[in-house]
Amino acid sequence: MEITNVMEYEKIAKEKLPKMVYDYYASGAEDQWTLQENRNAFSRILFRPRILIDVSKIDVSTRVLGFNISMPIMIAPTAMQKMAHPDGELATARATSAAGTIMTLSSWATCSVEEVASTGPGFRFFQLYVYKDRNVVIQLVKRAEKAGFKAIALTVDTPRLGRRESDIKNRFALPRGLTLKNFEGLDLGKIDKTNDSGLASYVAGQVDQSLSWKDIKWLQSITSLPILVKGVITAEDARIAVEYGAAGIIVSNHGARQLDYVPATIVALEEVVKAVEGRIPVFLDGGVRRGTDVFKALALGASGVFVGRPSLFSLAADGEAGVRKMLQMLRDEFELTMALSGCRSLREISRNHIKTDWDIPHYLPAKL
Ligand code: FNR
Repeated sequence: MEITNVMEYEKIAKEKLPKMVYDYYASGAEDQWTLQENRNAFSRILFRPRILIDVSKIDVSTRVLGFNISMPIMIAPTAMQKMAHPDGELATARATSAAGTIMTLSSWATCSVEEVASTGPGFRFFQLYVYKDRNVVIQLVKRAEKAGFKAIALTVDTPRLGRRESDIKNRFALPRGLTLKNFEGLDLGKIDKTNDSGLASYVAGQVDQSLSWKDIKWLQSITSLPILVKGVITAEDARIAVEYGAAGIIVSNHGARQLDYVPATIVALEEVVKAVEGRIPVFLDGGVRRGTDVFKALALGASGVFVGRPSLFSLAADGEAGVRKMLQMLRDEFELTMALSGCRSLREISRNHIKTDWDIPHYLPAKL
């Protein structure tokens, strides 16, 4: 069957992958309300397209942290990609470079920063989880820097792992033969079976729950790379992030895998954008599956978006070629949305090109 949109990869991935792996990739926390809402909220934003504008030439390229990329669509960090495909993060890295955009490598990748760097040139960010043992963090950040990664995406929404019930039921653990490659030499590379989610137990043992704003300063003292704060969803935290010298914010609810009943990221985006007042770029991830979603995020003030699950499912379905096609489809759809809305460059996309149902006073999400 011909694939004509990004969502179709999920069905193929579900058929191909062991249940434990598919469930780990697909699921959200607890009732999964936010998981649905991340998608549903996009459907409550409608277009106000402008007509009779010469759209014979459209430029979707942009600049992120000073790097020229082909489009405002990037790859979010997702852990353990070799469970999806034997080439794992290497395939994602190759596909992302070929598309001329940015890949974010997870701390919990099944390929190391050095292995990913060895795939060739490309703009890459490194996602960081801060471990209790700060020497581990220092080593890891230095390795990422040396391997040519351009920024650190510091994940701030995971002092403990969210309750993902299928991982608990499946007793999630890393399949035999796979390790968290970045931590292999440090003896922290295994996720063993426990009588819970193995990952939840791993996080409880290793990740520093005491992480706080002062640690941004600490991180700045050990690296000169720009720091993106990933997981901000309120205006209050956005202002603090700016104060602490963040280079950018990623509005993210971790793909709805942490605290359930937080708003969809596309709903939270605008308050963050307003609070930041243009001082640093604001990005979004969560539920982006269509070019129209990308346009909506940009209209609400995002400088770009990241996709998580689409990269995993396309990787599972067809390896590097799958991720390439996924990125191409999003790009084509985004370009088409621009044309049909009368926008020739990202600069022309404005708040006036959309209408949200929270533009209506006393808005409450439909299913509350
Ligand atoms: C994630 N995400 C994530 N985030 C992070 O900072 N470090 C990580 O290791 C992971 N790992 C991870 C694994 C899986 C299976 C998923 C689905 C997600 C969150 C990710 O970066 C991003 O925030 C969301 O995936 C975005 O939502 P969508 O695009 O998946 O809807």
